[in-house]
Amino acid sequence: MMLPDALNELVGSATASFEQAMTPADLENAKAQFLGKSGRVTELMKGMAALSVEEKKSRGAAINLAKQAIETSLNARRQALANAELESQLKAEALDVSLPGLQRLQGGLHPVSLTLERIEAIFGSMGFDVADGPEIESDWFSFTALNNPPDHPARSMQDTFYIDTKGEDGIYYNLRPHTSPMQIRHARAHVRKYRQDGGSDTLYAGEMPEIRVIAPGRTYRVDSDATHSPMFHQCEGLWLGENVSFKDLKYVFTDFCRRFFESDDLVLRFRPSFFPFTEPSAEIDIQFQQGPLAGRWLEVAGSGQVHPNVVRNMGLDPEKYIGFAFGMGPDRLTMLRYGVNDLRLFFDGDIRFLSQFQS
Ligand code: PHE
Repeated sequence: MMLPDALNELVGSATASFEQAMTPADLENAKAQFLGKSGRVTELMKGMAALSVEEKKSRGAAINLAKQAIETSLNARRQALANAELESQLKAEALDVSLPGLQRLQGGLHPVSLTLERIEAIFGSMGFDVADGPEIESDWFSFTALNNPPDHPARSMQDTFYIDTKGEDGIYYNLRPHTSPMQIRHARAHVRKYRQDGGSDTLYAGEMPEIRVIAPGRTYRVDSDATHSPMFHQCEGLWLGENVSFKDLKYVFTDFCRRFFESDDLVLRFRPSFFPFTEPSAEIDIQFQQGPLAGRWLEVAGSGQVHPNVVRNMGLDPEKYIGFAFGMGPDRLTMLRYGVNDLRLFFDGDIRFLSQFQS
């Protein structure tokens, strides 16, 4: 049905005024002008009262069509305004998920600390305690108690740094050059704990649980190159009882090395050596059967049967108590495990290097 021009114009002007409405409120006002109680469409309806029945029919149908067209454009505009509103709301609340977040740096364990944890876990599983002791040591614990008296040439094996303060013995305190003083400290504490005789200084030959301990920690020497640092780490081991022999040392240390390096075919060699505090003494070398280091002998620890004079300085009767000790280098173990060839990298504090070891 064709609409008369007047109705077409009405639809056109309604659509135009809807288009001009920029907010829902504007649009409601515009709607009232056309479809409201006294809107123009309503006025047209009222104007039909005087028409004949025939005229009413055709005129009514035409007005209705015009009204529908106006309603359609009203709804289209409503939808358009709602879309625009949603659009601008989304824009205002937009999150750029591709923006880099605020970084929170995460710390981690130093590779040598990871090695120490590993050592403690393995020896812990074999019934060893873990002991901790001072890095500033008296001359007696670092040397004399370990059968290494003043002026003995063997002291130069462990040249270290001294503190500007003297101990009770009138000798300057030192930065311990090895963890071996912990053999004495731990054994004496152990003996004190188990002796029932009031703790006199005479040698204890009573009943006591075996001493099985490791003592990891920092040590110091006057040494500095690609494989030596003035500060480095050691881990002491001591197993003392009534019937502990070199064969136990061999068994325990072989088991440790194989578990540490996760290599069941790793081979150990005990090479005769000298330490004042052990007799006999041996350097422990390991050999990998696979990998880049296969076939080379690599020194990892000093060891030996605890010297009777040292057992005596522990407060124990060397006729009754016997055992072995070892001292290994966790820094060296870390280098071997990760294939690092310059020890200084571990202590330079470069986060780019250190962060590579986080598991
Ligand atoms: N303390 C020795 C060192 O620093 C290692 C060692 C420890 C040797 C225990 C024998 C027994 O080289």
